[in-house]
Amino acid sequence: MNPIFPRSADKILRASLVAVLLALAVGISFATWLFHPNRTEVGYAPKQPVAYSHKLHAGDLGMDCRYCHYTVEFAAVAAPPPTEICMNCHKQVGVNSAALAPVRESYAKGTPIPWVRVHRLPDFVYFNHSAHVNAGVSCVTCHGRVDQMIEVKQVEPLHMAWCLDCHRNPAPKIRPVELVTKMDWMPDRDPAEIGKEIIQAKGISPPTDCSGCHR
Ligand code: HEC
Ligand code: HEC
Ligand code: HEC
Ligand code: HEC
Ligand code: HEC
Repeated sequence: MNPIFPRSADKILRASLVAVLLALAVGISFATWLFHPNRTEVGYAPKQPVAYSHKLHAGDLGMDCRYCHYTVEFAAVAAPPPTEICMNCHKQVGVNSAALAPVRESYAKGTPIPWVRVHRLPDFVYFNHSAHVNAGVSCVTCHGRVDQMIEVKQVEPLHMAWCLDCHRNPAPKIRPVELVTKMDWMPDRDPAEIGKEIIQAKGISPPTDCSGCHR
Protein backbone atom coordinates (compact mmCIF):
# COMPACT_ATOMS: atom_id res chain seq x y z
CA MET A 1 0.00 0.00 0.00
CA ASN A 2 1.29 3.48 -0.84
CA PRO A 3 1.77 5.71 2.17
CA ILE A 4 -0.44 8.81 2.21
CA PHE A 5 2.63 10.99 2.59
CA PRO A 6 5.79 10.29 0.56
CA ARG A 7 9.03 9.61 2.48
CA SER A 8 10.33 13.13 1.77
CA ALA A 9 7.44 14.56 3.80
CA ASP A 10 9.13 13.30 6.94
CA LYS A 11 12.27 15.28 6.09
CA ILE A 12 10.29 18.41 5.30
CA LEU A 13 8.36 18.02 8.56
CA ARG A 14 11.60 17.69 10.55
CA ALA A 15 13.15 20.71 8.79
CA SER A 16 10.12 22.91 9.40
CA LEU A 17 10.00 21.79 13.04
CA VAL A 18 13.61 22.90 13.49
CA ALA A 19 12.82 26.23 11.80
CA VAL A 20 9.75 26.78 13.97
CA LEU A 21 11.69 25.96 17.16
CA LEU A 22 14.52 28.31 16.17
CA ALA A 23 12.07 31.12 15.38
CA LEU A 24 10.31 30.47 18.70
CA ALA A 25 13.55 30.58 20.68
CA VAL A 26 14.66 33.76 18.93
CA GLY A 27 11.16 35.21 19.32
CA ILE A 28 11.15 34.68 23.08
CA SER A 29 14.61 36.23 23.53
CA PHE A 30 13.48 39.07 21.28
CA ALA A 31 10.50 39.78 23.54
CA THR A 32 12.83 39.82 26.56
CA TRP A 33 15.21 42.15 24.73
CA LEU A 34 12.31 44.44 23.70
CA PHE A 35 11.57 45.20 27.33
CA HIS A 36 15.23 45.55 28.31
CA PRO A 37 15.78 48.99 29.90
CA ASN A 38 19.08 49.54 28.00
CA ARG A 39 17.83 48.63 24.54
CA THR A 40 19.34 51.00 22.01
CA GLU A 41 17.66 52.77 19.11
CA VAL A 42 18.37 55.36 16.41
CA GLY A 43 19.24 58.65 18.09
CA TYR A 44 20.44 56.97 21.30
CA ALA A 45 23.40 58.96 22.69
CA PRO A 46 23.94 58.17 26.39
CA LYS A 47 25.85 60.51 28.68
CA GLN A 48 29.48 59.37 28.99
CA PRO A 49 31.67 59.53 32.12
CA VAL A 50 34.26 61.68 30.26
CA ALA A 51 33.47 64.52 27.81
CA TYR A 52 35.51 62.77 25.10
CA SER A 53 34.86 64.10 21.58
CA HIS A 54 35.27 62.08 18.36
CA LYS A 55 34.91 65.33 16.41
CA LEU A 56 38.05 66.68 18.09
CA HIS A 57 40.17 63.51 18.08
CA ALA A 58 39.07 61.67 14.89
CA GLY A 59 37.94 64.80 13.00
CA ASP A 60 40.10 67.86 13.80
CA LEU A 61 43.21 65.93 14.98
CA GLY A 62 42.71 63.37 12.16
CA MET A 63 43.37 60.26 14.25
CA ASP A 64 42.58 56.93 12.55
CA CYS A 65 39.75 54.95 14.17
CA ARG A 66 42.09 51.96 14.59
CA TYR A 67 44.53 53.90 16.78
CA CYS A 68 41.95 53.47 19.56
CA HIS A 69 39.64 50.72 18.28
CA TYR A 70 42.60 48.51 17.44
CA THR A 71 40.73 45.19 17.78
CA VAL A 72 38.27 46.00 15.00
CA GLU A 73 40.24 44.29 12.22
CA PHE A 74 40.84 40.95 13.91
CA ALA A 75 38.13 40.51 16.55
CA ALA A 76 34.35 40.32 16.73
CA VAL A 77 34.23 43.26 19.13
CA ALA A 78 35.55 46.79 18.44
CA ALA A 79 35.74 47.79 22.17
CA PRO A 80 36.59 51.25 23.52
CA PRO A 81 40.33 51.79 24.11
CA PRO A 82 42.08 51.20 27.45
CA THR A 83 43.07 54.36 29.35
CA GLU A 84 46.76 53.81 28.50
CA ILE A 85 45.97 54.82 24.90
CA CYS A 86 44.54 58.16 26.07
CA MET A 87 47.57 58.72 28.30
CA ASN A 88 49.95 58.34 25.34
CA CYS A 89 49.04 61.98 24.75
CA HIS A 90 47.40 63.15 27.95
CA LYS A 91 50.54 62.66 30.02
CA GLN A 92 51.69 65.77 28.15
CA VAL A 93 48.50 67.39 26.77
CA GLY A 94 45.91 68.95 29.09
CA VAL A 95 47.62 67.80 32.29
CA ASN A 96 45.70 70.39 34.32
CA SER A 97 42.36 69.97 32.55
CA ALA A 98 39.43 69.22 34.86
CA ALA A 99 37.69 67.41 31.98
CA LEU A 100 40.56 64.90 32.02
CA ALA A 101 40.52 64.30 35.79
CA PRO A 102 38.56 61.00 35.51
CA VAL A 103 41.05 59.80 32.86
CA ARG A 104 44.06 60.53 35.11
CA GLU A 105 42.29 58.84 38.02
CA SER A 106 41.50 55.74 35.94
CA TYR A 107 45.16 55.56 34.89
CA ALA A 108 46.50 56.03 38.42
CA LYS A 109 44.15 53.45 39.95
CA GLY A 110 44.24 51.01 37.06
CA THR A 111 40.43 50.90 36.89
CA PRO A 112 38.81 51.18 33.46
CA ILE A 113 36.68 54.22 32.56
CA PRO A 114 33.03 53.06 32.74
CA TRP A 115 32.07 53.98 29.13
CA VAL A 116 28.38 53.50 28.38
CA ARG A 117 27.53 51.26 25.42
CA VAL A 118 25.84 53.10 22.54
CA HIS A 119 25.16 50.22 20.10
CA ARG A 120 23.93 46.91 21.36
CA LEU A 121 22.44 43.97 19.49
CA PRO A 122 20.32 41.47 21.41
CA ASP A 123 22.27 38.43 22.68
CA PHE A 124 20.63 36.07 20.19
CA VAL A 125 22.28 37.84 17.24
CA TYR A 126 25.85 37.03 16.21
CA PHE A 127 27.87 39.94 14.83
CA ASN A 128 31.54 40.20 13.94
CA HIS A 129 33.43 43.42 13.17
CA SER A 130 36.50 41.91 11.54
CA ALA A 131 34.37 39.99 8.98
CA HIS A 132 32.82 43.27 7.84
CA VAL A 133 35.86 45.52 8.03
CA ASN A 134 38.10 43.04 6.14
CA ALA A 135 35.43 42.66 3.44
CA GLY A 136 35.61 46.44 2.87
CA VAL A 137 32.48 47.64 4.70
CA SER A 138 33.33 51.05 6.18
CA CYS A 139 32.57 52.21 9.72
CA VAL A 140 30.68 55.13 8.16
CA THR A 141 28.13 52.75 6.55
CA CYS A 142 26.96 51.46 9.93
CA HIS A 143 27.91 54.26 12.35
CA GLY A 144 27.63 57.43 10.25
CA ARG A 145 30.06 60.38 10.40
CA VAL A 146 31.48 59.60 13.84
CA ASP A 147 34.37 61.97 13.02
CA GLN A 148 31.82 64.82 13.13
CA MET A 149 30.11 63.71 16.35
CA ILE A 150 30.95 65.29 19.69
CA GLU A 151 28.93 62.54 21.36
CA VAL A 152 28.48 59.23 19.53
CA LYS A 153 24.91 58.62 18.48
CA GLN A 154 23.27 55.58 16.89
CA VAL A 155 22.26 56.50 13.33
CA GLU A 156 21.19 53.13 11.85
CA PRO A 157 18.35 50.91 13.16
CA LEU A 158 20.53 47.73 13.37
CA HIS A 159 17.46 45.53 12.97
CA MET A 160 17.18 42.34 10.95
CA ALA A 161 15.79 43.94 7.79
CA TRP A 162 18.64 46.46 7.80
CA CYS A 163 21.26 43.71 8.02
CA LEU A 164 19.54 41.65 5.33
CA ASP A 165 19.15 44.58 2.93
CA CYS A 166 22.90 44.77 2.68
CA HIS A 167 23.54 41.03 2.82
CA ARG A 168 21.29 40.53 -0.21
CA ASN A 169 22.97 43.31 -2.21
CA PRO A 170 26.33 44.30 -0.68
CA ALA A 171 28.04 45.61 -3.84
CA PRO A 172 27.23 49.36 -3.39
CA LYS A 173 28.56 49.22 0.20
CA ILE A 174 31.92 47.52 -0.46
CA ARG A 175 35.08 49.58 -0.91
CA PRO A 176 38.83 48.85 -1.08
CA VAL A 177 39.81 47.60 2.38
CA GLU A 178 42.48 50.30 2.88
CA LEU A 179 39.69 52.93 2.82
CA VAL A 180 37.41 51.45 5.52
CA THR A 181 38.20 54.15 8.09
CA LYS A 182 38.25 57.01 5.56
CA MET A 183 34.95 58.55 6.61
CA ASP A 184 34.75 61.18 3.84
CA TRP A 185 35.75 58.89 0.93
CA MET A 186 33.89 59.63 -2.30
CA PRO A 187 34.01 57.00 -5.08
CA ASP A 188 35.06 58.42 -8.46
CA ARG A 189 32.77 55.98 -10.35
CA ASP A 190 29.67 53.85 -9.70
CA PRO A 191 30.27 52.37 -6.21
CA ALA A 192 28.35 49.20 -7.16
CA GLU A 193 30.90 48.55 -9.94
CA ILE A 194 33.83 48.96 -7.52
CA GLY A 195 32.06 46.68 -5.03
CA LYS A 196 31.27 44.04 -7.62
CA GLU A 197 34.95 43.75 -8.60
CA ILE A 198 36.04 43.34 -4.98
CA ILE A 199 33.26 40.80 -4.28
CA GLN A 200 34.39 38.69 -7.24
CA ALA A 201 38.08 38.95 -6.41
CA LYS A 202 37.59 38.00 -2.75
CA GLY A 203 34.59 35.67 -3.11
CA ILE A 204 32.55 37.70 -0.63
CA SER A 205 29.14 36.22 0.17
CA PRO A 206 27.31 37.45 3.31
CA PRO A 207 25.00 34.91 5.00
CA THR A 208 21.25 35.23 4.44
CA ASP A 209 20.18 31.98 6.15
CA CYS A 210 18.85 32.12 9.72
CA SER A 211 21.78 30.27 11.25
CA GLY A 212 24.25 32.80 9.77
CA CYS A 213 23.19 35.39 12.35
CA HIS A 214 21.39 33.25 14.94
CA ARG A 215 23.97 30.67 16.03
C1 HEC B 1 41.31 58.74 20.71
C2 HEC B 1 40.62 57.49 20.71
C3 HEC B 1 39.51 57.23 19.71
C4 HEC B 1 39.52 57.36 18.33
C5 HEC B 1 40.66 57.88 17.47
C6 HEC B 1 38.24 56.92 17.85
N1 HEC B 1 37.46 56.52 18.91
FE1 HEC B 1 35.60 55.73 18.82
N2 HEC B 1 35.48 55.68 20.86
C7 HEC B 1 36.48 56.07 21.72
C8 HEC B 1 35.98 56.02 23.09
C9 HEC B 1 36.76 56.41 24.33
C10 HEC B 1 34.65 55.57 23.02
C11 HEC B 1 33.66 55.35 24.18
C12 HEC B 1 33.00 56.65 24.54
C13 HEC B 1 32.00 57.13 23.52
O1 HEC B 1 31.11 56.37 23.14
O2 HEC B 1 32.14 58.30 23.08
C14 HEC B 1 34.36 55.37 21.60
C15 HEC B 1 33.14 54.92 21.10
C16 HEC B 1 32.87 54.71 19.75
C17 HEC B 1 31.64 54.18 19.23
C18 HEC B 1 30.42 53.81 20.05
C19 HEC B 1 30.62 52.45 20.68
C20 HEC B 1 29.40 51.92 21.40
O3 HEC B 1 29.40 51.99 22.62
O4 HEC B 1 28.47 51.48 20.73
C21 HEC B 1 31.76 54.09 17.88
C22 HEC B 1 30.73 53.59 16.90
C23 HEC B 1 33.06 54.60 17.54
N3 HEC B 1 33.72 54.95 18.70
C24 HEC B 1 33.54 54.70 16.25
C25 HEC B 1 34.73 55.35 15.91
C26 HEC B 1 35.11 55.63 14.55
C27 HEC B 1 34.31 55.29 13.33
C28 HEC B 1 36.32 56.26 14.62
C29 HEC B 1 37.14 56.81 13.46
C30 HEC B 1 36.45 57.81 12.63
C31 HEC B 1 36.69 56.36 16.02
N4 HEC B 1 35.69 55.80 16.77
C32 HEC B 1 37.86 56.91 16.52
C33 HEC B 1 37.77 56.45 21.36
C34 HEC B 1 38.19 56.69 20.06
C1 HEC C 1 47.10 61.64 19.73
C2 HEC C 1 46.95 62.35 20.98
C3 HEC C 1 45.68 62.15 21.80
C4 HEC C 1 45.13 60.96 22.24
C5 HEC C 1 45.62 59.55 22.01
C6 HEC C 1 43.97 61.33 23.04
N1 HEC C 1 43.83 62.70 23.06
FE1 HEC C 1 42.41 63.72 24.08
N2 HEC C 1 43.13 65.47 23.32
C7 HEC C 1 44.25 65.60 22.53
C8 HEC C 1 44.45 67.00 22.19
C9 HEC C 1 45.58 67.58 21.34
C10 HEC C 1 43.40 67.70 22.84
C11 HEC C 1 43.14 69.21 22.82
C12 HEC C 1 43.79 69.83 24.01
C13 HEC C 1 43.47 71.30 24.14
O1 HEC C 1 42.70 71.82 23.35
O2 HEC C 1 43.99 71.88 25.09
C14 HEC C 1 42.60 66.71 23.55
C15 HEC C 1 41.51 67.03 24.34
C16 HEC C 1 40.81 66.11 25.12
C17 HEC C 1 39.77 66.45 26.06
C18 HEC C 1 39.26 67.86 26.36
C19 HEC C 1 40.15 68.47 27.41
C20 HEC C 1 39.64 69.83 27.86
O3 HEC C 1 40.24 70.39 28.77
O4 HEC C 1 38.65 70.31 27.31
C21 HEC C 1 39.31 65.28 26.62
C22 HEC C 1 38.23 65.12 27.68
C23 HEC C 1 40.08 64.22 26.02
N3 HEC C 1 40.98 64.76 25.13
C24 HEC C 1 39.92 62.87 26.33
C25 HEC C 1 40.64 61.85 25.74
C26 HEC C 1 40.38 60.43 25.98
C27 HEC C 1 39.32 59.88 26.92
C28 HEC C 1 41.27 59.74 25.23
C29 HEC C 1 41.38 58.25 25.09
C30 HEC C 1 40.18 57.54 24.70
C31 HEC C 1 42.09 60.72 24.51
N4 HEC C 1 41.67 61.97 24.83
C32 HEC C 1 43.14 60.39 23.64
C33 HEC C 1 45.08 64.57 22.10
C34 HEC C 1 44.87 63.24 22.33
C1 HEC D 1 28.29 46.22 9.19
C2 HEC D 1 28.07 47.26 10.16
C3 HEC D 1 29.24 47.75 10.99
C4 HEC D 1 30.47 48.17 10.56
C5 HEC D 1 31.05 48.18 9.15
C6 HEC D 1 31.17 48.65 11.73
N1 HEC D 1 30.38 48.48 12.84
FE1 HEC D 1 30.84 48.96 14.76
N2 HEC D 1 29.09 48.12 15.42
C7 HEC D 1 28.13 47.57 14.60
C8 HEC D 1 27.12 46.90 15.42
C9 HEC D 1 25.90 46.17 14.90
C10 HEC D 1 27.52 47.07 16.77
C11 HEC D 1 26.84 46.50 18.01
C12 HEC D 1 27.46 45.13 18.22
C13 HEC D 1 26.85 44.30 19.32
O1 HEC D 1 26.03 44.78 20.09
O2 HEC D 1 27.24 43.12 19.41
C14 HEC D 1 28.76 47.86 16.73
C15 HEC D 1 29.49 48.24 17.86
C16 HEC D 1 30.67 49.00 17.81
C17 HEC D 1 31.42 49.43 18.98
C18 HEC D 1 31.09 49.11 20.42
C19 HEC D 1 31.85 47.88 20.89
C20 HEC D 1 31.39 46.62 20.21
O3 HEC D 1 32.18 46.04 19.43
O4 HEC D 1 30.25 46.19 20.43
C21 HEC D 1 32.50 50.17 18.52
C22 HEC D 1 33.59 50.85 19.33
C23 HEC D 1 32.43 50.18 17.06
N3 HEC D 1 31.31 49.46 16.66
C24 HEC D 1 33.35 50.80 16.23
C25 HEC D 1 33.47 50.56 14.85
C26 HEC D 1 34.57 51.01 14.02
C27 HEC D 1 35.76 51.84 14.49
C28 HEC D 1 34.33 50.56 12.75
C29 HEC D 1 35.19 50.71 11.50
C30 HEC D 1 36.60 50.31 11.58
C31 HEC D 1 33.06 49.82 12.80
N4 HEC D 1 32.58 49.84 14.09
C32 HEC D 1 32.45 49.19 11.71
C33 HEC D 1 28.10 47.63 13.23
C34 HEC D 1 29.18 47.95 12.43
C1 HEC E 1 26.56 47.42 4.56
C2 HEC E 1 26.55 46.00 4.41
C3 HEC E 1 26.32 45.11 5.61
C4 HEC E 1 25.53 45.35 6.72
C5 HEC E 1 24.69 46.57 7.01
C6 HEC E 1 25.63 44.18 7.55
N1 HEC E 1 26.47 43.26 6.97
FE1 HEC E 1 26.99 41.43 7.75
N2 HEC E 1 28.26 41.13 6.21
C7 HEC E 1 28.48 42.01 5.14
C8 HEC E 1 29.59 41.53 4.36
C9 HEC E 1 30.14 42.19 3.10
C10 HEC E 1 30.07 40.36 4.98
C11 HEC E 1 31.29 39.52 4.58
C12 HEC E 1 30.93 38.30 3.84
C13 HEC E 1 32.15 37.55 3.35
O1 HEC E 1 33.29 37.95 3.65
O2 HEC E 1 31.96 36.55 2.65
C14 HEC E 1 29.18 40.12 6.13
C15 HEC E 1 29.28 39.01 6.97
C16 HEC E 1 28.47 38.79 8.06
C17 HEC E 1 28.49 37.59 8.87
C18 HEC E 1 29.41 36.40 8.69
C19 HEC E 1 30.61 36.62 9.54
C20 HEC E 1 31.37 35.39 9.81
O3 HEC E 1 32.26 35.48 10.68
O4 HEC E 1 31.10 34.36 9.23
C21 HEC E 1 27.54 37.76 9.86
C22 HEC E 1 27.19 36.79 10.96
C23 HEC E 1 26.94 39.05 9.64
N3 HEC E 1 27.52 39.64 8.54
C24 HEC E 1 25.95 39.58 10.46
C25 HEC E 1 25.41 40.85 10.29
C26 HEC E 1 24.41 41.42 11.18
C27 HEC E 1 23.82 40.74 12.38
C28 HEC E 1 24.15 42.67 10.69
C29 HEC E 1 23.19 43.69 11.24
C30 HEC E 1 23.29 44.03 12.64
C31 HEC E 1 24.98 42.87 9.52
N4 HEC E 1 25.72 41.74 9.31
C32 HEC E 1 24.96 44.02 8.75
C33 HEC E 1 27.78 43.16 4.90
C34 HEC E 1 26.91 43.79 5.78
C1 HEC F 1 21.92 39.12 8.52
C2 HEC F 1 21.60 38.69 9.84
C3 HEC F 1 20.30 37.97 10.11
C4 HEC F 1 19.77 36.89 9.43
C5 HEC F 1 20.33 36.18 8.21
C6 HEC F 1 18.55 36.53 10.13
N1 HEC F 1 18.36 37.37 11.19
FE1 HEC F 1 16.81 37.26 12.53
N2 HEC F 1 17.51 38.97 13.43
C7 HEC F 1 18.66 39.65 13.10
C8 HEC F 1 18.79 40.81 13.95
C9 HEC F 1 19.91 41.84 13.92
C10 HEC F 1 17.67 40.80 14.82
C11 HEC F 1 17.44 41.81 15.93
C12 HEC F 1 16.10 42.28 16.17
C13 HEC F 1 15.55 43.31 15.24
O1 HEC F 1 15.14 42.96 14.11
O2 HEC F 1 15.51 44.47 15.61
C14 HEC F 1 16.88 39.63 14.46
C15 HEC F 1 15.66 39.25 15.07
C16 HEC F 1 14.97 38.09 14.80
C17 HEC F 1 13.73 37.70 15.47
C18 HEC F 1 13.02 38.49 16.53
C19 HEC F 1 11.83 39.25 15.97
C20 HEC F 1 12.10 40.13 14.81
O3 HEC F 1 11.63 39.85 13.70
O4 HEC F 1 12.77 41.15 14.98
C21 HEC F 1 13.34 36.50 14.95
C22 HEC F 1 12.12 35.67 15.32
C23 HEC F 1 14.33 36.14 13.93
N3 HEC F 1 15.30 37.13 13.88
C24 HEC F 1 14.28 35.00 13.16
C25 HEC F 1 15.05 34.80 12.03
C26 HEC F 1 14.81 33.71 11.07
C27 HEC F 1 13.71 32.64 11.18
C28 HEC F 1 15.76 33.87 10.07
C29 HEC F 1 15.91 33.08 8.79
C30 HEC F 1 14.78 33.16 7.87
C31 HEC F 1 16.59 35.02 10.46
N4 HEC F 1 16.12 35.55 11.63
C32 HEC F 1 17.70 35.48 9.72
C33 HEC F 1 19.56 39.29 12.12
C34 HEC F 1 19.39 38.27 11.20
